Amino acid sequence: VGRAHGGRPPPGTIDLSAPQNPLGPPHWALAAAERGARAAVRYPDYEYRDYRRAVHTLTGASPESIVPLNGSAEAVPLLLAALRPRRLVALEPTFGDHALQARALGVEYVPVVWRPGTPPPVDEYCRAASAPGTLGLASNPDNPHGGMLSPETVREMASCTSGVLHVDEAFIRLSDRPGWSLQRDPPPGVVVSGSLTKDLALPGARIGYLIVGDPGLARLLDDARQPWNVNTMAVEVAVEAAGDPGRFHRFLEEARSHARTLRERLLGVLRRAGLEAYESHAPYVLARGPGGLHRCLAEAGFYTRDASTFTGLGEGWVRFSLPPPRLAVELERVLGECVGV
Ligand SMILES: Cc1ncc(COP(=O)(O)O)c(C=O)c1O
Repeated sequence: VGRAHGGRPPPGTIDLSAPQNPLGPPHWALAAAERGARAAVRYPDYEYRDYRRAVHTLTGASPESIVPLNGSAEAVPLLLAALRPRRLVALEPTFGDHALQARALGVEYVPVVWRPGTPPPVDEYCRAASAPGTLGLASNPDNPHGGMLSPETVREMASCTSGVLHVDEAFIRLSDRPGWSLQRDPPPGVVVSGSLTKDLALPGARIGYLIVGDPGLARLLDDARQPWNVNTMAVEVAVEAAGDPGRFHRFLEEARSHARTLRERLLGVLRRAGLEAYESHAPYVLARGPGGLHRCLAEAGFYTRDASTFTGLGEGWVRFSLPPPRLAVELERVLGECVGV
């Protein structure tokens, strides 16, 4: 098994492989990132007081419950290292290197497949996750298929997990159910990760956090992270965002509305081309076509995410991030050629 992610488009192709905020980064966040780059001549504050206060302002979570992360992708390796669970039970397909990381640390990896377009397999998850020493994992919205778990479902999953359930909410503020976020006050047994990286379309800045309601666990995880895991750029962007929370939330509202329109258009394009495309709550769409679809699209200039590498999917599965309207006609033409309809 190797790492497999999007975001490495061949030169000259249009990148639809790494989903993010379709509005791109706001000018105020870019300006803050530049200030933060200049502040890199100093170490960041290893206690991250300003950063925690900023995340508190943006999410409502208490500052003591916030563990700073070098992008929300740091959550799983930190949890594995600090909790040393016996097994990782993951609702798949899902984002990340969790299977690799579990293997590297000698933790058993147990996938439970949530088929696109179906309700989450809670009973099956619970059968696996009730075994002692379990760390549970689910992304909400799911990446790649964009399905969502209601707060009640998360509570049900947490109550049958013998250990901690990690809910990855990297895309929840860009989904059409931001109200399902549990970041303000995670229920017992649940830790929630969030990503200002995704919110603000700054993947290189790595701006993440984990919210942990249990004070003992929050301290343990904070002790297990390296002292300067969040860089000065990320801190400056978070502090800038929290300096005007109204502006931050209006920006996200506009992003969600734009994403909804683009997603509906993309679903139409994919279905007219003959693909099986799944309803999604997120700023990306998973679709299934003939084997070789990803390669054919790349050769025609559209670099998508080959979703065959996700657990539970296979050849012909492709994830699309949202193309701007000016590309929709060309994408439909190219899809028609690749699918052969
Ligand atoms: C579900 C999910 N979680 C986390 C991440 C990583 O986010 P970050 O940039 O905050 O590490 C991604 C990136 O695509 C993702 O899809």
